[in-house]
Amino acid sequence: MRYYGSALSFLALAVSPAVANVDAAFIADSSWLPRILLGTCALQALVIIYLLLRYLRRQPETRDLDPLLQKTKFQLHREIARHEATEELLLETRDYLSCLINSLPTVIIGVTEEGYVTHWNIAAEEITGLSSQNALGQKISGVYNAPPIPQEQIRATIGKGIAYTRDAIPFGLGADLRYLDLTIQPLVSPDTLGAVVLVQDVTLRVRMERSLIQNEKMLSLGVMAAGLAHEINNPLAAIMSNLQTINRRLSPGLAANIEAADALKIPFHDLVQYMEAREIPRFLDGIQQAGERAAKIVKTMLEFSHAHNSEFSQQNLAQLVDESLELATNTFELKTDGKARMPFIIRDFDPNLPEVECSASEIQQVLLNLLLNAAQAFQLAGESEATPTINIRLVTDRDHVILEVEDNGPGMSDKVQKHIFEPFFTTKGVGVGTGLGLSVSYFIIKEHHQGSIEVESKPGTGTRFTIRLPVHRHCQPPLRAG
Ligand SMILES: Nc1ncnc2c1ncn2[C@@H]1O[C@H](COP(=O)(O)OP(=O)(O)OP(=O)(O)O)[C@@H](O)[C@H]1O
Ligand SMILES: [Mg+2]
Repeated sequence: MRYYGSALSFLALAVSPAVANVDAAFIADSSWLPRILLGTCALQALVIIYLLLRYLRRQPETRDLDPLLQKTKFQLHREIARHEATEELLLETRDYLSCLINSLPTVIIGVTEEGYVTHWNIAAEEITGLSSQNALGQKISGVYNAPPIPQEQIRATIGKGIAYTRDAIPFGLGADLRYLDLTIQPLVSPDTLGAVVLVQDVTLRVRMERSLIQNEKMLSLGVMAAGLAHEINNPLAAIMSNLQTINRRLSPGLAANIEAADALKIPFHDLVQYMEAREIPRFLDGIQQAGERAAKIVKTMLEFSHAHNSEFSQQNLAQLVDESLELATNTFELKTDGKARMPFIIRDFDPNLPEVECSASEIQQVLLNLLLNAAQAFQLAGESEATPTINIRLVTDRDHVILEVEDNGPGMSDKVQKHIFEPFFTTKGVGVGTGLGLSVSYFIIKEHHQGSIEVESKPGTGTRFTIRLPVHRHCQPPLRAG
């Protein structure tokens, strides 16, 4: 615009002499000259004023706004840079948090108050096999059920604002049996209502805890049982021997008995008749049977309190299992008065099993008890749709052989499972079980063979006992008191 203004003023100045040279006659008329000159000057002045005005009207804007613009522009640049840095930091933090949540083995699921999934970490993906893309926006009940998370619980937790926790929830069966800790944590945000569901697999911890408790309990019980067995043994022996003496002294076959009766003028025949009329021999028989049973219990109690001198030798476990199966059939018929048959047996033996250094009679005793327990469990449960089946597996695991005895019987509740290895724990009726079978088995496997015995069971589905036996005996079995 500046150039344009200058050009116009130059034109105006140039025009003025040209106009002045237009006509000589006209010039000759000197009275017009001052007027023309004055007009030209006026025109020039007008152009200059116009240009000046334009300049003055524009100049203050550009002159004053330039630094302002510069300042604003600078501030804007600074703001944008700051925004970019914050955004980058936010993205980094988001990635870091997401990494953190995803690298945790715990299932972490974000849910709304209505139970719609808002967050789904990798652990949740792995457990369910469902990608977060497919899970987000779905109802939690439709995508996650290990364990099932009740919608009412989520709502109640958010409502109260207090975390809900449940420890060691059993989930699954047999080899898939897991223990899970569940926490529903309400979200602490003023404008969002929701919760975080955390599910942690604590199976290993629970098993270790149980095994530790079991070990402690068994050790103290073992010592106590040894003492008890000795204490009971002596009076019991006295009862049994006195009973024998009474029986002998009531026998008509002994001359001394008849002589003693005659001396008192009591006909021995009348005495025998009196005793029969009052059923005394039947009561004495009762005492005899109860005494024998008590003696058997004491003997078994002593079995797990004493270190045995049972011979250890190389044994083929498959053969041992087969022999035990044969024995079990006979014992089972005896124990059930032949009312029930042995269940269907499936044998699954590794053909390349190494021989195991063990006491054949003791391992057989354990096997017999496991088989009988399974068979009795079927019998106690009564008729069911599935064929009563016992699966026996023998597999090698490095320097151990694993023996599994699994039945599809009635199973056990968690409460029963906690006690089965304790001496005298039985759920069977009086006279059916003494509750010593599994405690003796436990000691045979743990103490005498340095192996392990574990149980997994679920009511209504079945029970599996897993025994691990070292192929080689590492050290002598510890000597126990008693
Ligand atoms: N396979 C099984 N299925 C269901 N319950 C079982 C099974 N094995 C054991 N149990 C439970 O464990 C309890 C303890 O078993 P254990 O062998 O120690 O004693 P018992 O069988 O009752 O008596 P005993 O073996 O001395 O005759 C049983 O009473 C039963 O409740
Ligand atoms: Mg038993």
